[in-house]
Amino acid sequence: MTYSRRDILKIGAAAGLASAAPSHLLAQSSSGVALTAREASLQLAPPDYPQTSIWGFDGSMPGPMIRVRQGGRVTRRLVNELPQATSVHWHGVRIVNAMDGVAGLTQEAVAPAASFDIDFVAPDAGTYWYHAHNRSVEQVARGLYGALVVEEPEGPDVDRDEVLILDDWLLNPETAQIDPDFTSRHDRSHAGRVGNFIATNGQYGHSLDVRRHERLRLRLVNAANARIFELALAGLEGWVMALDGMPLDAPQPMSETILLGPGQRADLLVDVVAEQGETAYLVRVDNGEGFVQSAFPVIAASSGARRDAPEALPPNANMAPPDLSQARRVRLHMGGGAMGRLQSAQLNGERRTFRQLVDANQFWAFNDVVGMTDDPLADLALDEPVRLEIVNDTSFPHAMHLHGMHFREIAADGTLGPLRDTVLTFGGETREIVFSAHNPGDWLFHCHMLSHAASGMMTWVRVT
Ligand code: C2O
Ligand code: CU
Repeated sequence: MTYSRRDILKIGAAAGLASAAPSHLLAQSSSGVALTAREASLQLAPPDYPQTSIWGFDGSMPGPMIRVRQGGRVTRRLVNELPQATSVHWHGVRIVNAMDGVAGLTQEAVAPAASFDIDFVAPDAGTYWYHAHNRSVEQVARGLYGALVVEEPEGPDVDRDEVLILDDWLLNPETAQIDPDFTSRHDRSHAGRVGNFIATNGQYGHSLDVRRHERLRLRLVNAANARIFELALAGLEGWVMALDGMPLDAPQPMSETILLGPGQRADLLVDVVAEQGETAYLVRVDNGEGFVQSAFPVIAASSGARRDAPEALPPNANMAPPDLSQARRVRLHMGGGAMGRLQSAQLNGERRTFRQLVDANQFWAFNDVVGMTDDPLADLALDEPVRLEIVNDTSFPHAMHLHGMHFREIAADGTLGPLRDTVLTFGGETREIVFSAHNPGDWLFHCHMLSHAASGMMTWVRVT
């Protein structure tokens, strides 16, 4: 039997998906165990497709879920059994710089057959994730990521706590194998590598049985290379409790859709309001049309009355907004890409025309420079407040991620938004973020559309 590209595109779109096995994510304590990056095969596409060969931590995709209590230590030995050098980045964690896992900036990439000892404290409760940070455009797309959950000392009252990692894969529609062209000129110059198969936790037809009136904590993680997920609820009512790991000051009723750019997370508390025998859904909205992202069949009657609306999650410490009036101003101009205005930029210290950049398979510039610079975008003193203006002078959205520190967006009226580690900007927009440089080290600041990062959209800041 053969399958057209069109068939793969439709996978996951059908309502009434069959029940799948419960999540294979396993809780682990942190005790210096191995985290092995290796090849594996698993059933990613529907059962009538062949298995897909992936690269995964401990051979699974997502990799093992790591759960620690707030203030707890994460210790793992990264063992590289891949044919390529790798590293692990702990996205969103206010981590000590040496453990940030950025190959080429905070450490050497870990060679095949070599290992690297990971040991850090997780200071803030919340939903984080870890992923490869060497040749990320390839390694994340092949499956090298997993969830890191840092638990509050006293979590909210819920019936279950589930991590839902959303991803898309670019699969060959005949063989269900991951498209091995990670340098596609089109992906790099346009919206990035967008997959044709979408799933939750690497499971086709992801489904969790629930009871009416149960309250679930859903920890959503967008692990996709480039896809922006627009999400809604059906048969569920709830609140956004946290974004990018950090609690909101007040739970925000989820009446509209939410957007999650690559790298971003949202913690929801949702109550099952569908009736027994019905199915509730996490809905992915694509061009105004709804698709099933995860299904929640209501298999039993009410477990009791609905709970009262939740209170906010406890805030993490030392996150007071910095003094704007004292803040140093930094500007990041983003240019390039298809349908952009970039005429020329510096690449490896030389000025190149856009045509020459295209020939080098490089498409994007930050402040006129393509790719990493020897000098940081900003050399910041410890605890210095910074306001960083991000000018998206391109025709595409970009999800800008700052390592090591969370920031807040300054709204047009001057008010400050929630703490985030990744800000989604759309073509033509100017956005401004503010943070205090409280974490010493060299921190990457890049687009989390990983094809963009690989073709110019990377810079860094230094905090000393
Ligand atoms: Cu989630 Cu630099 O990455
Ligand atoms: Cu981008």
